[in-house]
Amino acid sequence: MPDCPPSPTAAATRGVFITLEGGDGAGKTTLLGGLAAYLRQVGLDCIETREPGGGGPLAQHLRALLLDPAIAAGPVAQTLLHYAARADHLGQLIAPALAAGQWVLCDRFVDSSHAYQGAGLGVADELLEALDHCIVGGMMPDRTLLLDLDPALTSTRRAARGAGTDRYEAQPEGFAARARAGFLRRAMAEPERFRVLNAGLAPEEVLGMAIRAIADLLPGGGQHGP
Ligand code: TYD
Repeated sequence: MPDCPPSPTAAATRGVFITLEGGDGAGKTTLLGGLAAYLRQVGLDCIETREPGGGGPLAQHLRALLLDPAIAAGPVAQTLLHYAARADHLGQLIAPALAAGQWVLCDRFVDSSHAYQGAGLGVADELLEALDHCIVGGMMPDRTLLLDLDPALTSTRRAARGAGTDRYEAQPEGFAARARAGFLRRAMAEPERFRVLNAGLAPEEVLGMAIRAIADLLPGGGQHGP
């Protein structure tokens, strides 16, 4: 691993960092809102954020670049842009919030880079691991909820909500299946951090499972109940 200058994000954390991961249309946004409402209801101070784009103006500009269909960044360029946005996000928002004792709920984080740019587009694990080491360091999530959904259901859900299919269709053949397998491999490799939830269930059932999946992190180890 390369030597890196100490990152401003390396300070000891006091809050709790939760990330939501999964394919397009898996219901992350709905779950994030439900989890945030639950945490506030039990008296915890939480913020909601997302990647790419969470953080300061740099991350917002990088999101616009990354999602612009007219800018066809290659896999390595995409990776570097996502990690530049992530460095900004960690420094501007996540690290200060955790240091202030807040809960941080984040829609996508490093596992999306490993699943999409790594498993999906073939970017080398060595590059992703070096970027994790230098940019994320000790700021890995305390818990990652993987919303797992069959890619066939993903297309059905997208069609049902009238979402355009351009960006999705622009991905290479088999991309969604490789990304899903990449997420599941990450989950198998880090069972302490990950909980895999069946995103094919009704949203209220998924929320109940998610609440149980973070219960051990609550003050008092989850005495609140769902
Ligand atoms: P967004 O509109 O936020 O989609 P979603 O609701 O699915 O999160 O677009 C973000 C896109 O960026 C999404 O297709 C996943 C992709 N992405 C990566 O490819 N790598 C990454 O590291 C991250 C954070 C996101």
